[in-house]
Amino acid sequence: MMARRDFDPASLDPIAFYFLMNSVVVPRPIAWVSSRSADGVDNLAPHSFFTVSSVAPPVIQFTSVGRKDSLVNIEATGEFVVCLTPAALIAEVNATGTDFPAEMSEFDAVGIEREPSLRVAPPRVAASPVALECVLHHTVSFGASTVVMGRIVHAAVAEAALRDGRPAIDLLDPIARLGANEWGHVGTVEVIDRIGFADWPGHFRP
Ligand SMILES: Cc1cc2nc3c(=O)[nH]c(=O)nc-3n(C[C@H](O)[C@H](O)[C@H](O)COP(=O)(O)O)c2cc1C
Repeated sequence: MMARRDFDPASLDPIAFYFLMNSVVVPRPIAWVSSRSADGVDNLAPHSFFTVSSVAPPVIQFTSVGRKDSLVNIEATGEFVVCLTPAALIAEVNATGTDFPAEMSEFDAVGIEREPSLRVAPPRVAASPVALECVLHHTVSFGASTVVMGRIVHAAVAEAALRDGRPAIDLLDPIARLGANEWGHVGTVEVIDRIGFADWPGHFRP
């Protein structure tokens, strides 16, 4: 058995355990969340606590650690857009993680071009190859963390990111969040087919 060190969340400082979780739940995709405040200010912020919640209906989720402007806006308006974060925009993604005041738009402060969404009011990032337009489905709070679930009402994918009609990983070129302030890129991509039990070695097929 390999030597292991044990970490008990009940006896560790919550921040220390947060850093540990952040370093081991990796790599994480980054949701570039666009929202519009009740006053009409367009907000853009990266969130790497991000995944798919449901297939049908299509629901995605991200977690706001604390009451970030994104969360406040989405609670107020019920709409947001998740854009994919391509490697070409890594500096811009990081810059939108700056704690700008709510009345300042990250689109303007960082110099990110908007494009209109089709089904919701918050804009898309024009240079991002994917935009998932969402309406708020539900929020779930765990103390200071709030999970925001959004039902996708429209998906827009750049033609240039499609190969044979499907989004291609090399064309999307997404970045990922790792531990602390580390970022990851897509490395070697392996294609491995799932093995059905019928094809499992030794399985008797009558
Ligand atoms: C790559 C990256 C991932 C992040 N992931 C999260 C996250 O999952 N949840 C969160 O609350 N903050 C996350 N942050 C921090 C927020 O982006 C940051 O607090 C930002 O200022 C929030 O903006 P807002 O107040 O305009 O919503 C992340 C920052 C970076 C750079």
